[in-house]
Amino acid sequence: MKMIGNTMFITGGGSGIGRALAIAFHTMGNKVIVAGRRRGPLEEMAKAFPGIDFRIIDMRDAQNIVEVADWLVMTHPEVNVLINNAGIMAGDKTGGFMDDDLTVATIETNLLGPMRLTSALIEHLKTRPDAVLANVTSGLAFTPLAHAAVYSATKAALHSWTLSLRYRLRGTSVRVLEVAPPWVQTDLMGARDEPRAMPLQDFIDETLRSFASGSDEVLVERVKALRDNPGPNEWAFVEEFNDRLAY
Ligand SMILES: NC(=O)c1ccc[n+]([C@@H]2O[C@H](COP(=O)([O-])OP(=O)(O)OC[C@H]3O[C@@H](n4cnc5c(N)ncnc54)[C@H](OP(=O)(O)O)[C@@H]3O)[C@@H](O)[C@H]2O)c1
Repeated sequence: MKMIGNTMFITGGGSGIGRALAIAFHTMGNKVIVAGRRRGPLEEMAKAFPGIDFRIIDMRDAQNIVEVADWLVMTHPEVNVLINNAGIMAGDKTGGFMDDDLTVATIETNLLGPMRLTSALIEHLKTRPDAVLANVTSGLAFTPLAHAAVYSATKAALHSWTLSLRYRLRGTSVRVLEVAPPWVQTDLMGARDEPRAMPLQDFIDETLRSFASGSDEVLVERVKALRDNPGPNEWAFVEEFNDRLAY
């Protein structure tokens, strides 16, 4: 994708991967608008990086998503990039009695939210040259972590939906990308200091190179074993991977 001169809306841009991507794109010469539920981190970013704009959004709230999309198009009509990055992850009780609230929250945040926000913005994006829609999935979309089975399933579904979007948007100005991170040091599942996870800045540096390379899948080396696993013989690696992480 074009790396400068974009106007980008990044959900979950107040922390972790979204925040680091937002700062990197801002620094390179893009207009960046970040969004999330908590005002504090968003306000802090806007203060620390003049030019970054922010908006509160709750990706579980269908009506709020439409309101924010309308605001975005009114306030920043030049917006040409949407990064569906917001997400939640928690261990679940798959294989036993499941917490329905957690299941619903995970599906609404990680799958329904990006679908609704994309739907609300897509006609506008089609009017913009060099438009990009990037969905942040996960290596776990391809090789599930059984301990976070619902999360893994939402990311697999988001991957599938991304492929359909790419097909249906052929011949438009909108390029559909998928960013599938490996385990990265962020607050997600409290992994900020987890030595087995990839340092955030290393991930961002490699991810920016992958964005710039023009490939539909934005992947770092570390995630490729997970991404490449699906197929008729996928079970052996799924088992080995889950044994290795043994919760
Ligand atoms: N870190 C990893 O190992 C890893 C690996 C693969 C994929 N990913 C994906 O990368 C993305 C970013 O995660 P991260 O690691 O950077 O974790 P993070 O720091 O926890 O970021 C998640 C962001 O999503 C926002 N969010 C959560 N629920 C929301 C909602 N209902 N409405 C609006 N915003 C919401 C949070 O902001 P508020 O709380 O303020 O709303 C937060 O800024 C997620 O989609 C995650 O699944 C992460």
